[in-house]
Amino acid sequence: MHLLISLSVCLLLAVTAVAQKPHPCKSPPLMVGHLSVIYPKGETYVSERFTYDALGKKIRIRMEGVEHNHSFYEDVLMLFGEGVIYQISYRNKTCTKKPLKVPFQPMEIPQNATLQAQIIIGSSSGPGQGLLVNNWMGEIPEQKVKYYMTFTEFGCIPVSTLYISDKDGWLFSR
Ligand SMILES: *[C@@H]1O[C@H](CO)[C@@H](O)[C@H](O)[C@H]1NC(C)=O
Ligand SMILES: *[C@@H]1O[C@H](CO)[C@@H](O)[C@H](O)[C@H]1NC(C)=O
Ligand SMILES: *[C@@H]1O[C@H](CO)[C@@H](O)[C@H](O)[C@H]1NC(C)=O
Repeated sequence: MHLLISLSVCLLLAVTAVAQKPHPCKSPPLMVGHLSVIYPKGETYVSERFTYDALGKKIRIRMEGVEHNHSFYEDVLMLFGEGVIYQISYRNKTCTKKPLKVPFQPMEIPQNATLQAQIIIGSSSGPGQGLLVNNWMGEIPEQKVKYYMTFTEFGCIPVSTLYISDKDGWLFSR
């Protein structure tokens, strides 16, 4: 009996030693992707294509969506290093240059986030049938914001993010 228990404890130790606990991670510095955003309080629904360059600190977003029942299309280029944003309107045939005051925010899991669970989206019964992801949550008390983030275990690719703010309601992107 004792032997059995100590054996199972040894096994348990071996298993926990092999399975590494996920750590907050940073997404690859160069990415292109597709994002959809739902923001009910602002009556805003957006579908966008983005190009993300964390090395050059620049982001290009081409978005189309609906805001307060009005559809819009916007093409923006944000150069965080220079502190400049360009807004291109193909309909108006204009390009507006404005100052960009916010700092560059890399795609990453904040260091003080808490791991909720590691799960498989899909199935684990065969290779390629499931996606291993980590669910994280955290808080930014200064802004009264809670967030829930799902990123892949391999590659640290963002899957979805939910922000819940006392002031602005919730914003979901995936
Ligand atoms: C939005 O548009 C739909 C259909 O065009 C209309 O039924 C609805 O009342 C509008 N909502 C608002 C808030 O204007
Ligand atoms: C395009 O022009 C309209 C009408 O002048 C204006 O309301 C709108 O804000 C402009 N859009 C952009 C993106 O500049
Ligand atoms: C987590 O870190 C961020 C950025 O450093 C900070 O603003 C926030 O207050 C921290 N959250 C908590 C719960 O301490």
